Amino acid sequence: MPGDCRDRTLAPLGRRRIEWAEAAMPVLSSIRNEWLKTRPLSGLTIGACLHVTTETANLMRTLAAGGAKVALCASNPLSTQDDVAAALNEVYSIPTYAVKGEDTATYYRHINQVLDTEPQITMDDGADLVNTIVGQRRELIPHIMGSLEETTTGVIRLRAMEADKQLPFPVIAVNDALTKHMFDNRYGTGQSTIDGLLRATNMLIAGTTFVVIGYGWCGRGLAMRAKGMGANVIVVEVDPLRALEAVMEGYRVMPMLEAAPLGDVFVTVTGNKHVLAGRHFALMKDGAVVANSGHFDVEVDLAALKEMAVEIREVRPGVDEFIMADGRRLRLLAKGRLLNLAAAEGHPAQVMDMSFANQALCAEYIFKNQGRLECRVYPVPTEIDRKVAALKLASMGIKLETLTPEQVAYLRSYQAGT
Ligand code: ADE
Repeated sequence: MPGDCRDRTLAPLGRRRIEWAEAAMPVLSSIRNEWLKTRPLSGLTIGACLHVTTETANLMRTLAAGGAKVALCASNPLSTQDDVAAALNEVYSIPTYAVKGEDTATYYRHINQVLDTEPQITMDDGADLVNTIVGQRRELIPHIMGSLEETTTGVIRLRAMEADKQLPFPVIAVNDALTKHMFDNRYGTGQSTIDGLLRATNMLIAGTTFVVIGYGWCGRGLAMRAKGMGANVIVVEVDPLRALEAVMEGYRVMPMLEAAPLGDVFVTVTGNKHVLAGRHFALMKDGAVVANSGHFDVEVDLAALKEMAVEIREVRPGVDEFIMADGRRLRLLAKGRLLNLAAAEGHPAQVMDMSFANQALCAEYIFKNQGRLECRVYPVPTEIDRKVAALKLASMGIKLETLTPEQVAYLRSYQAGT
């Protein structure tokens, strides 16, 4: 049996947890039940590089139910749930290459094992499959109908590739669907980052000064949840509109150098590099907690932190204490990797339901439209976005108001005025 995971005997546990998540993913389940009858992906090969979680397992099951041949590897070395990888291999016969804590060489070996299946559609969370294809596996390009990208960081990389005219096939930016980023990035990251912080530290958030660096959808969600738990939130942002929104939400907004001496907790959610650097570590208080919830571990300048420390010791699982020459202790969580998946279980199934329904329906869209799309980064088709929202509402038993014929006519007219 192909696939590489830590321990195949974990499969029964993985299966129970996958079924637990399934119960909270009614939209994806409805697509799976429909696809078991219609098999719209028959004959298609899909290669996926996603966080190997219970929610992702349910997406893989849905694609397989649609008739696709699927293989999966991890999109981060620390986010894999080993029982889930075992169950995917053993129970669901979906080849899965992922071991929590794998080193960089293993991570890329696993990516290449998925690419060896010669996928016609690739599904990324952070663009590592596309990057590997463009960099080292160009022979695969003629097989590929298109690709799907799950996260902001990946979309940024792919748009840069598009601007440089290097994008070799069409991509759909699943992240940019409203039913993805308004819910997954905001409520998902907001809750799961706090979850990671609590599991790693068991600290009291009430009364802390909590610095959120980046006020995109993830930053909005995180600031909102930290405030709700009684933190005094400071936002650091480079964009004037976002900064203004943060001010009007009641947060203090200031540059990083001003926030550095004030914060008890710092969390980066920017998608950018070295937003916390040596000049900031030099000003932080004794005991400050430093974490990242962005996709890559580049947001905190780890090399600078290591260089400034006279001693580094692990004080709890996932908490490294960096002792500075002046005796201050800075506590780095999850080695600067994305906190919500490395120290907790990622976003809850209820939001991944919508994100992964978008992934499934966009895979079907690319398959149906093969040969008709250009080498561009496309938005999620509006009809898919609206369908996911409607299915989610229906699953919650929530009905919409309807317009009367008079209201429809009024909206179409322009004669009526004051
Ligand atoms: N990204 C964030 N949370 C996730 C989850 N639970 N599963 C897969 N990808 C995720």
